[in-house]
Amino acid sequence: ELNGAVTIVVLGSSGDLAKKKTYPALFGLYKNGFLPNNVHIVGYARTKMTQEEHIERVTQYIKPKSDEEQAKLQQFKHINTYQSGLYDQAESWMQLNQVLEKLETERGLTLASSRNRVFYMALPPSVFIPVAQGIKQHVYNDQGINRLVVEKPFGKDTESSNELGDALGALFKEEEIYRIDHYLGKEMVKSVMNLRFANIFFAHAWDRQFIDNVQITFKEPFGTEGRGGYFDEFGIIRDVMQNHLLQVLTLIAMERPISTDIKVLKCIRPIKMEDTLLGQYVGDGNGKPGYLEDDSLKNKASRTPTFAALALFIENERWEGVPFVLKAGKALNEAKVEVRIQFKNVPGNLYDNTARNELVIRIQPKESIYMKFNSKQPGLSYQTIQTDLDLSYHDRYTDLAIPDAYESLILDVLRNDHSNFVRDDELEASWKIFTPLLHTIDDPQQHLPLVTYPYGSRGPQELNAFVQNFGYDRSDSSTYTWPRQSMA
Ligand code: BG6
Repeated sequence: ELNGAVTIVVLGSSGDLAKKKTYPALFGLYKNGFLPNNVHIVGYARTKMTQEEHIERVTQYIKPKSDEEQAKLQQFKHINTYQSGLYDQAESWMQLNQVLEKLETERGLTLASSRNRVFYMALPPSVFIPVAQGIKQHVYNDQGINRLVVEKPFGKDTESSNELGDALGALFKEEEIYRIDHYLGKEMVKSVMNLRFANIFFAHAWDRQFIDNVQITFKEPFGTEGRGGYFDEFGIIRDVMQNHLLQVLTLIAMERPISTDIKVLKCIRPIKMEDTLLGQYVGDGNGKPGYLEDDSLKNKASRTPTFAALALFIENERWEGVPFVLKAGKALNEAKVEVRIQFKNVPGNLYDNTARNELVIRIQPKESIYMKFNSKQPGLSYQTIQTDLDLSYHDRYTDLAIPDAYESLILDVLRNDHSNFVRDDELEASWKIFTPLLHTIDDPQQHLPLVTYPYGSRGPQELNAFVQNFGYDRSDSSTYTWPRQSMA
């Protein structure tokens, strides 16, 4: 354990992730008293800046909501230091080590065994390995606890992911490595386990006998504006599906965790071309640019998908024949991430037109769990209507402050809890599902079909037919809206 003393080193602290996510999360933990008493944070990046410039930069997204928080923010600034240096020079790393030792000594940590260090890599993948090497050789403290936190992308396919894994594995022990998938830190993703295994009525209806299909959807209302350079190399499947959405699928589909979640991944067959729909957005004719019009995009004839719908099949006793459809897209009509579990039709139904039951876990925004079911229309009518049992977190838990995913995950690192991080064997199994498909997409000879959709739309027109083909039934959705009008 960390014994209340730790130095957190944020590598790449001048970048986007650091200012948008890492520092706000560190401050969130600090202000609520969740960082150890004896803590110091050291930012490290190539850019030369003063301490003041650095702290202004990394706190620009923190918006204190009260005088008290404002005061906390001032205190927080005092536990921060910046050190600039290169990523591939021994000398820079030795200087960083000296800075850390000096700070540790000043904080009364004279014993080497009390000098624990967390290295948080908020870096582009091109420097993952040189940085990990520099740290291991010059900044690692053999006598204390060291942790290395890494962010995706973890490679681009099975082979490159394994190479990265081997290189990191040669330097750090698996128990020292924390691979972040920030979806695992989201409140509603963490709640899936409780929902499934603490409720007998779900536990027994959670298989192919009752469930017809599962839809896991990620929608973003903006395109890749300005990020085209990064995105074009990866595409929507690598960006959010192989990692975030597959993690959600795993939690929905895995067996009770007396076994482990890795088992279910090993039962998923690699995605077939005929089970996919790929798209790329075009301009909306109203000023919103198409993907290919982005200035940051180099290849103006790029065929990188910004939308994908993929049907996955799990070949085990529980799920044989149940499609799990993952859908993700940039530049759509709304921001929404949800899981929709659609149950089968009621056999021998007494009533006409009853819609299927659906259990929806809305991951964001407006966290909620709701179950769509059929009931008699209230009053003199005998008609069946569709309604819901609705647990909307913000209505039900009024003083609730849902922690940001990164806060929850950094706290797990400090508590030595690996359960919400990506394991190496899990990563390998997940790449195996996607790699053949990704290689086909990347191969210019294959010229796979790529449909278009306008910026700000629901996605490609072909989507409705695609999901129907995998069992999804939209019937009766015309009379049903959620959240109900009165609450909206
Ligand atoms: C990141 C992707 O991993 O997740 C981004 O690289 C995406 O493209 C983001 O926008 C979505 O995260 P969130 O927490 O906003 O849903």
